[in-house]
Amino acid sequence: MSEPLSDLPEGLHPETYAVRAAVARSSFGEHSEALYLTSSFVQHDCESAARRFARQEPGYTYTRTANPTVASFEQRLARMEGTECAVATTTGMAAILLVALTTLKAGDHVIASQSMFGSTMKLLGSEMARFGVETSFVSQTDVSAWRAAVKPSTRLLFAETPTNPLTDLCDIAQLADIAHGAGALLAVDNSFASPVLQRPVEFGADLVVHSGTKLIDGQGRVMAGAVCGTQKLVDGVMGTFLRSGGLNLSPFNAWVVLKGLETLALRVKAESAAALELATWLESHPQVAAVHYPGLKSHPQHALAMRQQSGMGGTVLAFDVAGHTPEQLRANAFHVIDRTRVCSVTANLGDVKTTITHPASTSHGRLTEEQRQAAGVKQGLIRISVGLEHMDDLKADLLRGLDTLA
Ligand SMILES: Cc1ncc(COP(=O)(O)O)c(C=O)c1O
Repeated sequence: MSEPLSDLPEGLHPETYAVRAAVARSSFGEHSEALYLTSSFVQHDCESAARRFARQEPGYTYTRTANPTVASFEQRLARMEGTECAVATTTGMAAILLVALTTLKAGDHVIASQSMFGSTMKLLGSEMARFGVETSFVSQTDVSAWRAAVKPSTRLLFAETPTNPLTDLCDIAQLADIAHGAGALLAVDNSFASPVLQRPVEFGADLVVHSGTKLIDGQGRVMAGAVCGTQKLVDGVMGTFLRSGGLNLSPFNAWVVLKGLETLALRVKAESAAALELATWLESHPQVAAVHYPGLKSHPQHALAMRQQSGMGGTVLAFDVAGHTPEQLRANAFHVIDRTRVCSVTANLGDVKTTITHPASTSHGRLTEEQRQAAGVKQGLIRISVGLEHMDDLKADLLRGLDTLA
């Protein structure tokens, strides 16, 4: 049982909660959030220790069960997502594993998109199968396919919107209706949009999952994850599992992502505006075959994006370079990526430093060619997570490769 942290009025804006909510201030009165880097906590006496270990009295005992810095991050993120509570995990994948292990058992069925992050597909499709859980992968954008996949044993719908790397959306409200009609839960991976653009529970989702490694940290320093939702499900069921299973976030990493939340809104809005400018510009380059970005009018789900993502397209875009055969497409994509001198060739995203990747050989490299085709990840596809560099420098960086393609 962690203590309720700093007291704030209800109904403030997410930007205010981002810098003010859930401060665990010590008796020294420090202004910046303290980092409680400790594995255990000293108890006043045996009686009080017994009550704390039995969770009958608030207070800290051991960091695997609760820690003030981790609690600050959890409570602040929950405020921003508009959920009752959150639990923080070591990584985004640990958060997804936590959802799977606490909502599913042998014989249960999951419906998930066929174009999600590669490790999520592996986890739900292969690893969970060893425990008797069946997963159906359906088209991200075709609501009727999600509805048709429902079985009496369906317990969870898992969606990621927008997707990595093609920025396909799903309609959260419609998926929530399908899930609830089937007596199942809807979990949404909100790592790409963040609560600044999209708050899935407002559209009916039950659980919100984050890779805090992405936009929440925002400066590529640590790995982190979180699950947000109701007190009963997230603190009760998932928190209990987490405390026993030891999937919890370290205080140091929690402190980094807690500070990341403070600048999240500014970064996401600036990076989204830059991504829109870059995507618009790329659309007119002769060596670019297609641009995938929800902020563009040409995106098939532009209207949904504007409705669901606070009128913004997000910080990630993808584009297909021109070319014919898979070999030529791959060579052209490698050419453009390898000529950049400002962008970082690295798989992470959501960083203030722009990152550029070739999904078919990295994040989606472990999938079969068939799975890649189904996900629409072609050999010529390049993903860019737009950071805070000057736009002219980013354009010039991409032109080094685009203008020298044979
Ligand atoms: C959408 C999405 N969800 C989850 C993850 C996994 O997060 P982590 O790397 O923190 O485990 C990633 C990682 O790239 C991701 O892109």
